[in-house]
Amino acid sequence: MVTSYDFPTASIADEVVDSILVGDSYGMVVLGYDTTIPVTVDELLPVCRAVRRGSAHALLIGDMPFMSFQVSVEEAVMNAGRFIKEGGMEAVKVEGGKEMVPVVDRISRAGIPVLGHIGLTPQTATLQGGYRVQGKTADDAKRLVEDAQALESAGAFGVVLEMVTEEVARKVSESLRIPAIGIGSGRYCDGQVLVLHDLLGLYERFTPKFAKKYAELAGQVRQALGRYSEEVRTGTFPGEEHVFRMDEQERARMGSKRKP
Ligand code: KIV
Repeated sequence: MVTSYDFPTASIADEVVDSILVGDSYGMVVLGYDTTIPVTVDELLPVCRAVRRGSAHALLIGDMPFMSFQVSVEEAVMNAGRFIKEGGMEAVKVEGGKEMVPVVDRISRAGIPVLGHIGLTPQTATLQGGYRVQGKTADDAKRLVEDAQALESAGAFGVVLEMVTEEVARKVSESLRIPAIGIGSGRYCDGQVLVLHDLLGLYERFTPKFAKKYAELAGQVRQALGRYSEEVRTGTFPGEEHVFRMDEQERARMGSKRKP
């Protein structure tokens, strides 16, 4: 699984991955917010539609932003429905453990597949003392297993485990029938998810330790823009091959009408 936030990258991702997440990480890596907190459903829906247009095969999951599912179960179902009806998504993701059981239960019973998300939950990271690794103690392990199992029983079709120690992520994964999708949670999850801009090396503000960079696109973009700028300044671009020309005859007519 990978995130995508636009038509061109969704079209490429669709050729190679099983699932595309329109993550609320969009707020950080595309809109430049410091956290995912300000992101709204209305901001994400056009992004979902662009990804939908670029995708034919991958399972499309819309990430329910902060405060779109916490106020009431009714509002959560309505907003999940918007991701499906207006955004063209096939499933939604909801952050939180046991406390989200009523929400996951009702959204799934409304016919919308739900992906859970536990461990580090960026929308409520402040309550967790910041962006910290989760699952460092035996008590944490017990709580995470219970959270994951509660989400499974409530109808979740999978659970994202974010920044959980490898040992605990393994234990959680083994305790579930549904897939555990890891991000920064080691090698024993059933699948992996990464933020597109992290793996492409396109988000320079910060790269988490767990995110392997498969490309250095920021450097390539900088180099390309630098060359473009230089060529415009020196008159090398546009070249002969980039220009449109008039017919000979029309050029002659245009020339004959010129004022002396
Ligand atoms: O918003 C997002 O991209 C996510 C992934 C990190 C799982 O929630």
